[in-house]
Amino acid sequence: MTYELNSPLSTHLVNTLRDSQTDALRFRQNIKTLSLLLADRALQKEALQSTSLFTWQGRYNFQMFDESNLLFVTVMRAGLPMLEALMDLFPDAQAGFLAIKRDETTHKSKLYYDRVPDCKDKHLILVDPMIATGGSMIDAMELLKERGASKITSFNIIGSPEGLARIEEKYTELDIYIAQIDERLNDDKYIIPGLGDAGDRQYNTPE
Ligand code: PRP
Ligand code: URA
Repeated sequence: MTYELNSPLSTHLVNTLRDSQTDALRFRQNIKTLSLLLADRALQKEALQSTSLFTWQGRYNFQMFDESNLLFVTVMRAGLPMLEALMDLFPDAQAGFLAIKRDETTHKSKLYYDRVPDCKDKHLILVDPMIATGGSMIDAMELLKERGASKITSFNIIGSPEGLARIEEKYTELDIYIAQIDERLNDDKYIIPGLGDAGDRQYNTPE
């Protein structure tokens, strides 16, 4: 199931990313803020656990997330600021890394590197700002399933209807939390209106 944020704040933040005048620092900051908004929406279904805390009044139980059950896996390079924001939010969570690059001529994605800890019994949250053709996400999902991930949620900033339909059809059990679903893909498989190349915009590497 796909859940689109579509709130005035998320719309404003996404549209700042579309502005070609937005510099890399503000771009990364807004991606990070959007990641926190996605977490707030997605974790509404996550159960809190009674946790014993030593407070100024002595020992009491309070409702908390079990951070150590969360595993954030990022798709490099564009997903790095999303991972950073989420690891700052939950410092006791674990992180995993996948390096996937789309060939801009064939539009096929290629996995170069992975470093993912044991996925078993974790709530795995896959983070990547863009779903265009969906190829990168399918590569990531296949690897994570092979590694034993059972509960996977996806956080994304912008997606195309075409890419999302492909993912939804293949992974019916996957929950996707996304800030904005855009109009379509162009002939070069870029999202329209989109924001250009998310990795390049964040790290000052214009084509
Ligand atoms: C971007 C983005 C996704 C991918 C989406 O990464 O971060 O991983 O494109 O496209 P797809 O749905 O058609 O596979 P890119 O390959 O540009 O690498 P980068 O992060 O290094 O810029
Ligand atoms: N990757 C991006 O960063 N942007 C797109 O529009 C498509 C793929």
